[in-house]
Amino acid sequence: MTHELLFLNNKDMEKLGVNDMKATIHDVKRAYILTEQGDVLVPGKCVMRWGTTPEDENVYGRINAMPGMIGGEYNMAGIKWIGSGPMNYKKGLPRASVTVILNDCDTKLPVCIADGTAVSAKRTGASGGVAMELLSRKDASVMTICGAGAQGRTQLEAALIVRPTIKTVYVYDIRPESSEKFAEESRAKYPDVKFVPVADPEQAVRESDITVCVTLANEPIVHSEWLKKGCLLMNMADYEVSKNCVRKASKIVVDNWETIKHRLVSTVAIMAHEGEIKDEDIHAQLGEILCGKKCGRENDEEIIYFNAVGTGILDLAVTTRCYKKALEEGIGTKLKYWE
Ligand SMILES: NC(=O)c1ccc[n+]([C@@H]2O[C@H](COP(=O)([O-])OP(=O)(O)OC[C@H]3O[C@@H](n4cnc5c(N)ncnc54)[C@H](O)[C@@H]3O)[C@@H](O)[C@H]2O)c1
Repeated sequence: MTHELLFLNNKDMEKLGVNDMKATIHDVKRAYILTEQGDVLVPGKCVMRWGTTPEDENVYGRINAMPGMIGGEYNMAGIKWIGSGPMNYKKGLPRASVTVILNDCDTKLPVCIADGTAVSAKRTGASGGVAMELLSRKDASVMTICGAGAQGRTQLEAALIVRPTIKTVYVYDIRPESSEKFAEESRAKYPDVKFVPVADPEQAVRESDITVCVTLANEPIVHSEWLKKGCLLMNMADYEVSKNCVRKASKIVVDNWETIKHRLVSTVAIMAHEGEIKDEDIHAQLGEILCGKKCGRENDEEIIYFNAVGTGILDLAVTTRCYKKALEEGIGTKLKYWE
């Protein structure tokens, strides 16, 4: 009895197209659609947290286990195992480090271990991109990104694919040097777009058609009075936007409501826990809109609040695409699992 599995490191994943945002947007849409069709297994996230409170996670860190199974053309099970070291930047290391294990759906044996760090950043950007495509104004031209980190960069990349109408991007970060660096890098990459680092997000959000929050904030940094008519407010991490932002929204849209409630860190999840938000207050999951069961944006006036928690099946979809290509092209290192 022998069994081999494939190890894919970051360089292998690059060769296999992990940075292809359009392909990732496709994978993410498929994952959301398969979710609505009941062709996935999404057990809750298991959070191993240092410290004692949810707020401690953004100081002392965590490692999350996110198992899943995605059917359809992917037909793969597995797990995303993601470490988050909020203080890693002091050591010049990325906050997130991700390992993805793919398991065959029939035998359940592991077939691949991959570096999923880029997968995770790209799929989160793609998830935001799908939300922007369905929920922002078609003529959106001004955007604010709060959180000039790894996810902020992929949110921008996806935004400029789905809304090429964006011409001005404000960047806010608690560390001004990070906003400056983000703006400088982005100007070189997207010369047709104006990038403006800001020391305070208020005026930027007031002007924005799309505001994306991807920070480690534990207290709201965006407030309801700032929200422009017709804007999309994206709460991609924890308690980053005030409860009044959710109260002010015409629609609340999410990626996966059960997982959001279980994770209990975002603004809308806290409000659900406190009893203010009920299941029926959630207008839709993205997959329901993609399947045509629910509508997305209906006019240029409504304010829409979006919250994404992220599920492991998104990472499994992207990693499976790369793994299949690796088998075709003979990329990666074969490991003898059983000799
Ligand atoms: N929804 C999802 O699917 C999903 C997926 C991945 C990451 N995330 C979340 O996105 C967030 C950002 O992740 P990342 O990988 O980009 O991390 P990162 O460390 O690379 O970037 C985070 C940035 O936020 C800034 N920041 C921290 N606190 C802030 C505050 N109070 N106000 C403004 N800026 C602040 C930091 O200075 C940093 O530049 C994390 O909270 C992470 O958990 C969500």
